[in-house]
Amino acid sequence: MRIENKNAIVTGGASGIGRATVRRFVAEGADVLIADRNRANAERLAQELAHTGRKVIAHQVDVSDEAQVDAMVDRAVRELGGVDILVAAAAIPYAGFGAGEDRHRAIIDKPFAEWREVLGVNLDGVFLVDRAVARAMVKAGRGGRIINISSIMALRPALNSGDYCVSKAGVWMLTKVLALELAPHRITVNAIAPGGVRTPMLQAALDRDPKMEQGIVDSVPLRRIAEPEELAATALFLASDEAGYYTGAMLHVNAGTLMA
Ligand SMILES: NC(=O)c1ccc[n+]([C@@H]2O[C@H](COP(=O)([O-])OP(=O)(O)OC[C@H]3O[C@@H](n4cnc5c(N)ncnc54)[C@H](O)[C@@H]3O)[C@@H](O)[C@H]2O)c1
Repeated sequence: MRIENKNAIVTGGASGIGRATVRRFVAEGADVLIADRNRANAERLAQELAHTGRKVIAHQVDVSDEAQVDAMVDRAVRELGGVDILVAAAAIPYAGFGAGEDRHRAIIDKPFAEWREVLGVNLDGVFLVDRAVARAMVKAGRGGRIINISSIMALRPALNSGDYCVSKAGVWMLTKVLALELAPHRITVNAIAPGGVRTPMLQAALDRDPKMEQGIVDSVPLRRIAEPEELAATALFLASDEAGYYTGAMLHVNAGTLMA
């Protein structure tokens, strides 16, 4: 029980890394608000965890919408009694993700609306969620832990994913500025930069290109793709008392793919 009786919000909590983090946090004694735009998946996960005795709330939110984000944090404060831990994992790999069409495009071919959509969710969304949670944490005066999910692509450019790479680099700098600004309030702010993780986001790309999986595996010194639970373990560490001296750090969970 490494985070017993702590209250957490996990955005993107209904799938992949977020979902594994919700499950691990509940197993370690936390109450959790699952914040996701996919209501059905969030409710399914809350249902799965109903027997644990912890409070698990499914909350539908679009993290790129300021009013919705503020209402989400108000609900967590009201119904959980405050927010001790945030994991900001909601993101999309390209505009319209989930709608079927693959919109990976070079910058010169990218419509401005697609660029804005990716930056709106992946960077504005993290800004809005971090800001609302930080305000609640400062007001409560109990310190806190903010954990932003960035990516190996914050540091390593990838063809046809310029919007995603820039959004993740932005999350990394946002993390560092916030770490400075919130340190006086005993709020730590750190980032996690995963390499390839077996989630629906990655699986969508693997399904489109059968040769891609081997290409990824060959580029990883440990020769495998990560499981979402391995990222949840890193989020748990950053949320736990043992990580009290980490702030403004990015933990690279990539099996040696990029030694930054
Ligand atoms: N899977 C990987 O290989 C990988 C690698 C590096 C970084 N990441 C990052 O890890 C995080 C989690 O990704 P994942 O692989 O678990 O993806 P995923 O697609 O499985 O889960 C993302 C979740 O975010 C939600 N979401 C998307 N847009 C949202 C919005 N506007 N508002 C609220 N919720 C929204 C989705 O509904 C989904 O439940 C993301 O930040 C992603 O960029 C993933």
